[in-house]
Amino acid sequence: MRSLLITNIGELVTADPAWGAGPLGIRRNAALVIDARRVEWIGRAADAPAADARVDADGAAVLPGFVDSHAHLVFAGDRAAEFAARMAGQPYTGGGIRTTVGATRAASDEQLRTNVARLRNEALRQGTTTMEIKSGYGLNVTDEARSLRIAHEFTTETTFLGAHVVPAEYTDRPDDYVGLVCGPMLTAARSAGARWIDVFCERGAFDADHSRAILTVGADAGMGVRIHANQLTEGPGVQLAVELNAASADHCTHLSRADIDALAGSTTVATLLPGAEFSTRSPYPPARALLDAGATVALATDCNPGSSFTTSMPFCIALAVREMAMTPAEAVLAATKGGAAALRRSDIGHLTVGARGDLLLLDAPSHLHLAYRPGVPLTTTVVLNGELV
Ligand code: NIG
Ligand code: FE
Repeated sequence: MRSLLITNIGELVTADPAWGAGPLGIRRNAALVIDARRVEWIGRAADAPAADARVDADGAAVLPGFVDSHAHLVFAGDRAAEFAARMAGQPYTGGGIRTTVGATRAASDEQLRTNVARLRNEALRQGTTTMEIKSGYGLNVTDEARSLRIAHEFTTETTFLGAHVVPAEYTDRPDDYVGLVCGPMLTAARSAGARWIDVFCERGAFDADHSRAILTVGADAGMGVRIHANQLTEGPGVQLAVELNAASADHCTHLSRADIDALAGSTTVATLLPGAEFSTRSPYPPARALLDAGATVALATDCNPGSSFTTSMPFCIALAVREMAMTPAEAVLAATKGGAAALRRSDIGHLTVGARGDLLLLDAPSHLHLAYRPGVPLTTTVVLNGELV
């Protein structure tokens, strides 16, 4: 494994205030060495030691790789017509999930794998070095297990979302479906290596009792808990996430004061997914209130063919700044360290000595340009697990 020196870094975002100025821990005119897949040295560019390979950042900003802690990449087909109907005034209900379930079940392993690879590469080119990938479009034992096996080819952060919606064949017997999820499907998900369990806790999907039952069985089996909470309505999802010490409550679009306070007083991260609000024309989550209350906030794409078909963390950062009143620094932290916290990882999401060698270079002198230049492909170079991509 060759060591790598990056020199002439105009703005190094360490994402750790102990390592530099301000909340982003910024160091100027810095250099950094990666060796054995870890950040080994950080210092002044003038003091840079020798390394096997060298990248001259030429004054560019260098950031930790983005951590996208919420993505649904294993699916077939798209729902562009549903998006067009929404832009013409139709509401988003989650009803289209069943359409994608049909297409996913009908697809071959190779088709699913190719689709995941395409989206994963799209994200990587924009600087996403860690991506969580959920199942949830199989919704039977075989197709959930194969979704998770395919997801596992791309990431260790795989999530079992058998409780996405009740599939059509169980419409009249949701209790039986919950039994299937908690029994044979969960066993198959474990064998397929799922690290996390997730539930869409929402009117029209799973209520608090069903969600609690499913998540508890998953936690007892050793899986970490995350919840799709309060996306469409001010439901019980966030309180349940806190009750179960979930790593993350995701969406958090419709929150009461009690929800905000509960998140702030917990170790559960509020993962905000502004791509979904953008693509469903919904109000954005109350990021400012969450941050001001002291909650840990993450930003993620929610990439899926229904509510948010984007792999772009820079786009989510721009939305968070423009639409959710987050400062650029808060948005960058939420897209890096916040995502890492939502996955309960301390080795990623920051650039300090010992961190995993995951970073990106921008064609810009500062992280501010991520929000200032929306829609522009600013990421020029990505280092993934110590290697230049
Ligand atoms: O996180 N809300 C539930 N699941 C996805 C959407 C899935 C879909 O519409 O296909 C979400 O937004
Ligand atoms: Fe989602």
